[in-house]
Amino acid sequence: MSEQSRNITYTQHQVPLAERWRQNGHSSGILWFTGLSGSGKTTLALNLERRLFERGWHVCVLDGDNVRHGLSSDLGFSQRDREENIRRVGEVAKLFAQTGFLVITAFISPYQHDRQRVRDIAGDMFHEVFIDASLETCERRDPKGLYVKARQGLIPDFTGISAPYEAPLQPELHVSTQEMGVADCLTQLEAYTQTAFTHEGILA
Ligand code: ADX
Repeated sequence: MSEQSRNITYTQHQVPLAERWRQNGHSSGILWFTGLSGSGKTTLALNLERRLFERGWHVCVLDGDNVRHGLSSDLGFSQRDREENIRRVGEVAKLFAQTGFLVITAFISPYQHDRQRVRDIAGDMFHEVFIDASLETCERRDPKGLYVKARQGLIPDFTGISAPYEAPLQPELHVSTQEMGVADCLTQLEAYTQTAFTHEGILA
């Protein structure tokens, strides 16, 4: 706890999480997508959200590009700024997960240490999902034209080019967008989500 956060106590909520889960018909948590820019995080997050929403799930997406327009608009792409970005997103995702939402986050989150910190604060609500495509593949896709600019030296600290990406060592789920199309990736994600967030023990 920092100096500024002394003299603060936790407020006890009136609606226990287990009751929310029973009412929702699924438990809550964080599907933490990590991967290079252009690996497919946002595409898969939005499609998965749509599918689950249509089945009545309480689900939401937190996406890097959007969050950087608001909550993290004061941050850039240095290691420190990314660390702070991921810290904020981790805390927000945890708050949503504690109110019963399945939160899908789509952030490069390139540093193992930053992702581990989210795991530490969210505990077993945290599910790391590696959205995996090689740098060559992402560069070939280059949906936003950013790799071309990064190669020209126009974007400093660009992940994969002039800044590192530390792949997860033991993600809960590994989705290869290089080997599978969007439909198959979604099937894999849906199957995982179904198993992880609706099994008997959770909703009993
Ligand atoms: S993170 O590293 O802090 O997790 P985040 O996911 O929020 O990054 O933002 C990544 C998005 O910002 C990319 O998809 C890309 O559109 C844009 N971007 C702009 N500059 C950079 C950069 N230097 N490195 C990576 N992405 C960048």
